[in-house]
Amino acid sequence: MSGVKEDTQIVAFCCQYCAYAAADLAGGLRLQYPPEVKIIQIPCTGKMDILYALQAFEEGADAVMVAGCLPGDCHFLEGNYNAIRRVERVKDLLRMIGLESQRIKMFHISSSMASQFVRAVEEMLDVVEQLGPNPLRANHPENPKEMISEETR
Ligand code: FES
Repeated sequence: MSGVKEDTQIVAFCCQYCAYAAADLAGGLRLQYPPEVKIIQIPCTGKMDILYALQAFEEGADAVMVAGCLPGDCHFLEGNYNAIRRVERVKDLLRMIGLESQRIKMFHISSSMASQFVRAVEEMLDVVEQLGPNPLRANHPENPKEMISEETR
């Protein structure tokens, strides 16, 4: 991806039963997936708190993916449906603060869907390529130089 910056960050909250296993399988099959993705294993996407996603954006993630079991296959019955609702809520909150709602997306990926996992990561990279980096990153305390306005220099 030529337009993706070197420091692009995609955070992927992956259910341990499905998407996390698919990512693992992709590695085992030597399917290349973009190194920009940081995978966070969670017990079920139903455990993905809205605050986790917002914190990821606050800390500079350019995009967030939430990847859970196929519809009807959640080990906790309704977890992935709850995650769909939470992702929609995060989209609303992103719009309210002026960020593009496309920066977060829910995926359904079973443990055997290694190539679909790779495609999901590539899809989110394409989104970042189109939208550019997360503008909040410049305001993160780890970038104090960026926080100093022109007037105070
Ligand atoms: Fe996988 Fe709930 S157990 S999404």
